[in-house]
Amino acid sequence: MVYSQRSPGCRRLLLLLLLLTALESESGHIHYSIPEEVKHGTFVGRIAQDLGLELAELVPRLFRVASKGHRDLLEVNLQNGILFVNSRIDREALCGRSAECSIYLEVIVDRPLQVFHVEVEVKDINDNPPRFLRQEQRLFILESRIVDSRFPLEGASDMDVGANAELKYKLNPNEYFDLDVKTNEGETSILELVLKKAVDREETQEHLLLLTAVDGGKPELTGTVQLLISVLDANDNAPKFDKSVYNIRLLENTPNGTLVIKLNASDADDGINKEIVYLFSNLVLDNVRSKFIINPNSGEITVNGELDYEDCNLYEINIDAVDRSPFPLTGHCKVIVKLLDENDNTPEMVITYISLPVQEDASLGTVIALISLSDHDSGPNGQVTCTLSPHVPFKLVSTFKNYYSLVLDSALDRESVANYKLVVTARDGGSPSLSATASVSVEVADVNDNAPAFAQPEYTVFVKENNPPGCHIFTVSARDADAQENARGACGPAKPALVCSSAVGSWSCSQQRRQRVCSGEGAPKADLMAFSPSLPQGPSSADISHDVAVYHEVNLVVTVFKIHSSCYCLVPRVLSDGRRRTGLTDSDHTIFHLNDETRSFDGNKTNF
Ligand SMILES: *[C@@H]1O[C@H](CO)[C@@H](O)[C@H](O)[C@H]1NC(C)=O
Ligand SMILES: *[C@@H]1O[C@H](CO)[C@@H](O)[C@H](O)[C@H]1NC(C)=O
Repeated sequence: MVYSQRSPGCRRLLLLLLLLTALESESGHIHYSIPEEVKHGTFVGRIAQDLGLELAELVPRLFRVASKGHRDLLEVNLQNGILFVNSRIDREALCGRSAECSIYLEVIVDRPLQVFHVEVEVKDINDNPPRFLRQEQRLFILESRIVDSRFPLEGASDMDVGANAELKYKLNPNEYFDLDVKTNEGETSILELVLKKAVDREETQEHLLLLTAVDGGKPELTGTVQLLISVLDANDNAPKFDKSVYNIRLLENTPNGTLVIKLNASDADDGINKEIVYLFSNLVLDNVRSKFIINPNSGEITVNGELDYEDCNLYEINIDAVDRSPFPLTGHCKVIVKLLDENDNTPEMVITYISLPVQEDASLGTVIALISLSDHDSGPNGQVTCTLSPHVPFKLVSTFKNYYSLVLDSALDRESVANYKLVVTARDGGSPSLSATASVSVEVADVNDNAPAFAQPEYTVFVKENNPPGCHIFTVSARDADAQENARGACGPAKPALVCSSAVGSWSCSQQRRQRVCSGEGAPKADLMAFSPSLPQGPSSADISHDVAVYHEVNLVVTVFKIHSSCYCLVPRVLSDGRRRTGLTDSDHTIFHLNDETRSFDGNKTNF
């Protein structure tokens, strides 16, 4: 028999040894102690003996045990006077969570009537594990929660008492969460989950943890609960394009409404945080906005209106992808649209006339017109070549890229063709190519290249001596194939006249301002000069004023030319047919100065 102290250490000792104790108190109480849940028939105490009763008197004295409501739990064997466990005693059923639990027995004997009080203390054993109310606890944690954020958890309960009900908690090892347990006034526990590393919904949407409660019993019992932690989305991801630059090539004149590109950004967030709206960025210029349309929902960029390579051949379109969160994030990309040229521009030709009409004696290579070509297309579409209608005495010479000269290629003769109709064609290198034509009318200007033909090659004129100056000697007549002035002859109203007078033994000559040779048609010629090809060089060309417009070869040996405003008469001594002119000196020729007013020879020069 061991004295039962109320101290926990003693109670534990009792439990361990499973000793039954009986105590006869001062007041006649007997105290036994048994653990709960022991088997039927388990010995509790020698109750008769402990009460000082003889076994033999138990029956005659009508030994009986009364218990308030717990009668069948304990029983006394009247043969041996032993109190034993009759049926399973569950401390928790008997006393709930109260720390102390006893069954009170009244033992009654008659003759004489005696009443004894017996207390049977039911000791707790660790027969209840810690229990959580739910099998699973769900938590919702916003991914934006910062480290050290705390989230309350429900603790477990244990039906046992004392150490058997003292719970410790542990969490399975994990990267993100810790457990913090605080005890409130040594009784209830406050459990909190503590975030030790920020969670990322885009990495792990759910975390599954196991919370274990361990009681203080020996052996200890455990209870567990699953913690299912759902990470809620925060708008922490901006929409993202798979490329930062998209290069698009598009033919110019692509029809209105044509799809240029369908953009596709993605957002790792969830819900509205991942819903994307596509927009032109603020950087986008008006010329882009007028040429392209973006569908905010589908991300499709389409052509709006006309795309003209010659107007603009490169568009840079900055695009924003914005999510629909109240605090939206934006992703960016750039779409570069390069237009490809189409041959949609006809070449253009500008002709600058240089020398029209062209003199029929113009030298080969004379530039008649300058042709400049242009084409607004690019590449081969804008490369222009120029051709000329065939079989004409002209050709095109390329002077520089897209510049040509129309030049004289072979000799002209107004008297055979007076006007040419040329067709210049400019053609670009596109396929199909485009071309433009221009017609050029080249008029051939007359040059006095036809000598008036005298009726006779040579006239032999016999002049009487002592003629007075100005006497009429002879009239020559000639025909001239040239036009207008060049053919103008002596048919006009003026006196007929190349007039040559002879002085004694010598020639004398006088001339009117307009020397006239009669021609079959046209107006009279001015400044007629008679010139022989066999003559030595005349006055150098520098000395000849432009008044000297016309030379005429006639078979007449007198050559009249003009230096500045003075007229000279050149009289060679040899005729073109080789015959000598009688009466001339030995000098090859003699120059007579014609008086400006009278056009008569200046006597000084008359040295023959
Ligand atoms: C957009 O891109 C995402 C991720 O790259 C892809 O899963 C999705 O199929 C694409 N959608 C379209 C319409 O191209
Ligand atoms: C292009 O098409 C859109 C819609 O299809 C229309 O609203 C717009 O007027 C068109 N633009 C031109 C220049 O035709």
